[in-house]
Amino acid sequence: MDQDYQSGVIAPQNRDALFLCFNGNHEPGSEQQVRAFLGGLPQKVEALRARLPETDLHLTAAIGSAYWDRICPEERPALLRPFPALEKGARVAPSTPIDLLFIVRADQYDACFELSREIEQALQGAVTLVDEVHGFRYLDSRDLTGFVDGTENPEGDDRLDVALVGDEDPQFAGGSYLHLQRYEHDLSAWNRQSLKEQEDTYGRTKADNIEYPSAEKSPHAHTKRTSLKRPDGSSIEILRQSMPYGDAARKGLMFVSLCRTPENFELMLKSMVEGDEEGRADRILQFTRAVSGAAFFVPANSWLQRLG
Ligand code: HEM
Repeated sequence: MDQDYQSGVIAPQNRDALFLCFNGNHEPGSEQQVRAFLGGLPQKVEALRARLPETDLHLTAAIGSAYWDRICPEERPALLRPFPALEKGARVAPSTPIDLLFIVRADQYDACFELSREIEQALQGAVTLVDEVHGFRYLDSRDLTGFVDGTENPEGDDRLDVALVGDEDPQFAGGSYLHLQRYEHDLSAWNRQSLKEQEDTYGRTKADNIEYPSAEKSPHAHTKRTSLKRPDGSSIEILRQSMPYGDAARKGLMFVSLCRTPENFELMLKSMVEGDEEGRADRILQFTRAVSGAAFFVPANSWLQRLG
């Protein structure tokens, strides 16, 4: 393996994804079963990638903040902490911890299915499935609100620099802090807005995805609330790997943030929910609601292998 990070952290968006959320059982031996499974996971994924080379299969295996110490009491990523629950009026960001998250993605759904089935079988008895969501690329990488999502993501080597822990925590170098939120959209309310109102909500145009000039963005615009700077003028960045999901019952976005520190996501979420110094919050939260929120660490492959 030439790269040590899990490929799902960095790889660009695929056509399909399965989000598998598990909680650990408390039977004797459960943790040992999970450790052994995680230890063999990098080889398992490589073998399946070799068997299905056309599918561009990627995995992100993430260990939840609360579960971490059950799996690995010996050492812990320096900044791993619970999801920062927030609430301001009708705007909520609940914390709903999950022990283990697997994001399986590929350009063919059957490849996602294959790896997901292997994961479920190998972990049987040690964990309980609490949620399974099928994410998909919608049109030209749009959110279900109809706007292209991911445009301002870091590119090339910047993706690695933003997402991967480096020398600041050497034992966990190549890992990444992951935040997951499932958002449920109110698409009827969203679609009752005029095109201009929708575009103002993001601060970008819809069809051709052009950013508004900064001076024309509302303080409530999503891109205003999330493009944050440090006092020295440098940008506060995350790598987003979100995907839409939807069926007759529920429609929305599986929001995924990856970063070398949990702080950047926390600052952005606070800016969306609580707003700026004058309390001007993110207008998209009038049309979508976070129904879950969990914090994880995605270890490097070599760290996982040592676990087994
Ligand atoms: C930008 C959608 C939640 C952080 C965007 C854009 C869209 C979008 C369409 C503009 C294009 C782009 O640059 O990607 C959504 C939807 C969300 C959501 C539908 C929830 C349902 C979040 C959350 C965060 C976040 C929770 C972080 C806490 C960002 C950032 C940008 C962005 C950093 C780029 C801003 C810029 O530099 O212009 N989002 N987003 N988003 N979003 Fe979100």
